[in-house]
Amino acid sequence: MPQLPAIFFDPAKTFDDNFDHGPFLAAGPAYQNEGEPSYTFLGHKLYSPFGIAAGSLPTSKHVGGAFNRGFDVVCYKTQRSVPFPVNEFPNVVYLDIDGDLTLEKAARPLAGRLTSDVPLEKLTITNSFGNPSRGPGFWVNDMKKAVAAQGKGQLLIASVVGTIREGFGKEDYYQDFADAAGLAVSAGAPAVEINLSCPNVANEGVVCYTHDAVLSIAQRTKAKVGDVPIIAKIGYFTPDQQELLEKIVLDTRDYVSAFSAINTIQAAIVDEDGKQLLPGEGRLRSGVCGAGIKWAGIDMVKRLDALRKKHRLSFEIIGVGGVMAPADFHDYRAAGADVVQSVTAAMWNDQLAAEIKATLH
Ligand SMILES: Cc1cc2nc3c(=O)[nH]c(=O)nc-3n(C[C@H](O)[C@H](O)[C@H](O)COP(=O)(O)O)c2cc1C
Repeated sequence: MPQLPAIFFDPAKTFDDNFDHGPFLAAGPAYQNEGEPSYTFLGHKLYSPFGIAAGSLPTSKHVGGAFNRGFDVVCYKTQRSVPFPVNEFPNVVYLDIDGDLTLEKAARPLAGRLTSDVPLEKLTITNSFGNPSRGPGFWVNDMKKAVAAQGKGQLLIASVVGTIREGFGKEDYYQDFADAAGLAVSAGAPAVEINLSCPNVANEGVVCYTHDAVLSIAQRTKAKVGDVPIIAKIGYFTPDQQELLEKIVLDTRDYVSAFSAINTIQAAIVDEDGKQLLPGEGRLRSGVCGAGIKWAGIDMVKRLDALRKKHRLSFEIIGVGGVMAPADFHDYRAAGADVVQSVTAAMWNDQLAAEIKATLH
């Protein structure tokens, strides 16, 4: 499913099974880059401005597999400063979305299924893991291997998130993002992504929509990581939130080197009887990704690009969301993305980078 074997992350298997036994790559030659890398991102030379966003690559084996297949800008799945459990299985279900998942459609419950025969290019899914982490005791060492797996013209990004703990105030929580980023830098990560598109457990809503939270996390992370560039991963801002987006972009200008947009669009996911599909507290709503959210990713990239031109800012943009085929990559580049990443399509199609690279020359 969908009519193809899953390679980087198999939704039919548990997270731990994927973690311990993946990726499920067929034996084959590594992608061979030719000539010199000609793209630049965050000061790093790249063979292509394309790769895999945070999600489907939870270990250095997965990251190494992605580099091997020619994905050049690859995120190690979001990590925490402490161990944290994964949500109950299943974590990925398939959604029947006709065309774009507009905000109107996402305001109503969406029916989820455990199987689907929708072709990969049109696939929309939801994912709900809860940012699990085996803790720095595992991942700091493992990330060193992921850093070592970078080839010439390739870049590893370490994605991190804060964890609220007993007795934490909100500033402790924001500092924990920075501490996790510091651990990633101690592993040699050349760039860190702060995952601001997770639910904000210190305030209402999602972190990226709280200006002061974003600013505090960005400042604290910069103080921790020094010259290592910071990427802020954000969700979709509605047109009503444009002023907030502009203020965030302006106020974080000294700390954030790139924005990655978008994460997902949240929706309630139900079974055929209209009941919550994913088991467990707080799991009625989860993030939707894949083909149905491309419109939102493109819209955010265009607006970020317009803001950087308007204010003569130098931040770079990673476009994410619904990149299922080479044409989607080119649409993101035309919208203003410096780098483009996929998760959903690349879970099944390990040749996506090769297909895109074939259209670059
Ligand atoms: C299986 C899966 C796991 C994900 N885990 C993370 C994560 O750990 N951190 C994060 O910032 N985003 C995570 N995401 C969101 C993706 O990075 C991406 O923003 C989103 O899926 C949209 O891209 P796509 O349409 O190409 O899938 C995950 C997505 C999927 C499908």
